[in-house]
Amino acid sequence: MKEKRVHIVTMGCQMNVYDSEQMLRHLAPLNYRPTSEPDRADLILLNTCSIREKAEHKVYSFLGRLVRIKRVKPDLIIGVGGCVAQQEGYRLLERASHVDIVFGTFSLGRLASLVQQVEAQKRQIVDIDPREESEPLCVTGPVLETERATAFVTIMQGCDNFCTYCVVPYVRGREISRAPEEIIEETRLLTENGIPEVTLIGQNVNAYGKKNGQGCDFPALLEKVDDIAGLRRIRFTTSHPKDLSDGLIEAFGRLDKLVPHIHLPVQSGSDRVLRRMNRGYTRDFYLEKVAKLRGVQPDISITSDIIVGFPGEQNADFQATLDLVQQVGFDSLFMFKYSDRPNVPAARYADKVPDVVSGERFNSLFEIQTSVTLKKNEALVGTTQEILVDGHSKKSPDQLTGRTACNRVVNFSNGGSTRVEVGQILLVRIVKAFSHSLLGHPVGEGYREDVGENGGLSHAA
Ligand code: 5AD
Ligand code: SF4
Repeated sequence: MKEKRVHIVTMGCQMNVYDSEQMLRHLAPLNYRPTSEPDRADLILLNTCSIREKAEHKVYSFLGRLVRIKRVKPDLIIGVGGCVAQQEGYRLLERASHVDIVFGTFSLGRLASLVQQVEAQKRQIVDIDPREESEPLCVTGPVLETERATAFVTIMQGCDNFCTYCVVPYVRGREISRAPEEIIEETRLLTENGIPEVTLIGQNVNAYGKKNGQGCDFPALLEKVDDIAGLRRIRFTTSHPKDLSDGLIEAFGRLDKLVPHIHLPVQSGSDRVLRRMNRGYTRDFYLEKVAKLRGVQPDISITSDIIVGFPGEQNADFQATLDLVQQVGFDSLFMFKYSDRPNVPAARYADKVPDVVSGERFNSLFEIQTSVTLKKNEALVGTTQEILVDGHSKKSPDQLTGRTACNRVVNFSNGGSTRVEVGQILLVRIVKAFSHSLLGHPVGEGYREDVGENGGLSHAA
């Protein structure tokens, strides 16, 4: 069979990064191999995100750019998958008539057959139907890309929480957990291929196993993953504060490989706004969880998401958010201006916050958090950190880059003639702090500690 090329563009969250790899697995039997060059592709797939309005705009502007390629190469197949595809269905074809396949989040397992149909019949197809019971949630197989320090492993999909601003339950469906054996097997395969760190991902990993985990909850799953020989670091994301159990908090004190970092989205510091968001906890409840986490692991890094300008957010509510941010001292924050999403309850709330006000609030929060993050980073100057090497820094390619256990980016020069490999763990002394990264120098004898056989980055200094 003739070898064909697929170019995949991934937008949005870690779930989509994982799903794009799933797409490659599904297309391999049709002899599609990945290419990074869209002009050389026989098939271009766009894996989309609809969490905020901006993300959705990006999809249409990207599709606009593909018109030129399709004109020169009429046999090119263009597919749009992910959350925007699920949400828009046929409407997507009305706005972008050069698209051949629209496949939603539930039809990823049918991608190969959809591509075959378009190849044979040259017609447009929309498949946003639910997943068939018989279709597996994810397919495990050979590790497709081994020269990397870290990999995602999906443990659950969907969400039952229905926060009033969020489109996820509509485009990703109800919560469903993967069997623990599958997760362990996939993680073991990654580890055997020299990948020392995994991030267990799901919209709300704390709910893992609540509905169909076969007697294994999230702390129990973490324990099983922690037992995998050769694995060095376990991360997970995202956690919902209301489901953060004592068992999970204790796991931070007990499990060697679990990194001291938790992403715990708070969204707002105002009880009134939290209620209108349907978050299911109060500000005090959140602060209690933070205190418990720090009780078990004093150095734990806590990061969060905050939405400013949620409908009805008054100045006093926003001040409560600023106050919480200062009280907690987050290691870093993802900040968003509220945007209406199709069908979500908050889109129908009348008391929208004007864009200029949201903008001002965003800027104040950004300024405060930047100085908190910088202070936290400065406190690390002079310490020695274990860094997992990711590769060369994009900004300054003569430098290497990696991450601390707490997920801080550290750039460093490999001064000696030693070979440094992706996936290696080095001891690095921190010499300078910036607001988004740290600068360090590898230190001491034996800083070279091999973690796998298939690392692969040669760095000749
Ligand atoms: N507007 C702005 N931010 C949103 N998020 C989710 N939905 C919206 C929305 N409609 C943010 C939340 C969530 C993160 C992934 O995106 O903070 O935690
Ligand atoms: Fe969206 Fe809320 Fe579910 Fe997170 S918990 S995915 S914000 S509905």
